[in-house]
Amino acid sequence: MLLEDKKAILEIESEIRKDNLEHTLFSWSKQKGISPKVIDRAKGVYLYTHDGAPILDFSSGLMNVNIGHGDPRVTEAVVRQMEKVSYVTPACATEVRGLLGKKLAEITPGNLNKAFFTVCGATSIENAIKLARLHTGRHKILTRYRSYHGATLGAMSAGGDPRRMKVDAHQAANFVHLEIPYAYRSHGPDWIRESFDHLERLIAYEGPQTIAAILMEGESGTSGCLKLPPGYWKKLREVCDRNGILLISDEVMSGFGRTGNWFGVENHGVVPDMIAMAKGITSGYIPFGALMVSDAIASRFDEEPMMLGLTYSAHPVACAAALEVINIYESDHLIENTRAMGAYMDARMEELKA
Ligand SMILES: Cc1ncc(COP(=O)(O)O)c(C=O)c1O
Repeated sequence: MLLEDKKAILEIESEIRKDNLEHTLFSWSKQKGISPKVIDRAKGVYLYTHDGAPILDFSSGLMNVNIGHGDPRVTEAVVRQMEKVSYVTPACATEVRGLLGKKLAEITPGNLNKAFFTVCGATSIENAIKLARLHTGRHKILTRYRSYHGATLGAMSAGGDPRRMKVDAHQAANFVHLEIPYAYRSHGPDWIRESFDHLERLIAYEGPQTIAAILMEGESGTSGCLKLPPGYWKKLREVCDRNGILLISDEVMSGFGRTGNWFGVENHGVVPDMIAMAKGITSGYIPFGALMVSDAIASRFDEEPMMLGLTYSAHPVACAAALEVINIYESDHLIENTRAMGAYMDARMEELKA
């Protein structure tokens, strides 16, 4: 590249960065003294700056661009949908909404057969919490310290991520946190049993008749990738069933192949009462989310109005992106590929450990 061209490109990047920094706010960051990378385009596993230099997107965006960047099949599906209809109120039925609901019922485990469509992970979680309260008539939600469920007020109070401290001093009511077993920090041979003794005591003290749901990440992600021990989810399911408590799996990060299955909880052989999803549902191409609910929960609202809603619920363009992305997971065998890649990563980690 000629020196003049290089200089011209640096100027373009500098101008873009300046507009961004002067007129937009950057998440989870101080605003001064930062120099965000200026991205021009993206393809496959690479992001490209304006001079064409590739950057390996090692985290797939925010662990959401599961099919890779710039897949024209998604663009075409989105354009096709936009040419038909870009927006209708969530009270309308559309072909794409129905097809996506049917597809999600097919790929989610057990009797999770109905989807409530949202706009992101946090709105899936907010609606899961509301639905659990509506369904059970109870108000408390049990979640794990060190979990992350999103940055809206309810989702943030539900989480245990320390980033919430500054904005969550007056934590939303009726979230109770618990410790989960964590191999690296736990002491003594009975750590799993002790953790369940703690949970049983917590439920007794809080009163099972006040607890609507236990909310857990399918597998922990942002919260430190703290792997749940084998059998933990199964035991949790038993505790919930015994106490009439709903079990919600937050699969916003662990869904859509991130852990070798469609959903993380499937690695533990458990069917939750609801699955909250987002991120990989559209591989990040369009903001979108969904809450899959069991037949028992859905049928409760057969006669009684379900008081949940969002302007962009079941957005046709987002539904089209999701449907195409799920088709790509299937046609390109990407879920199977995550299993192969997982085995490869595990083997290399063992080598490093040795
Ligand atoms: C497990 C989990 N739940 C919820 C969320 C929130 O998703 P969003 O940022 O789309 O609201 C995230 C985001 O990282 C997440 O990892």
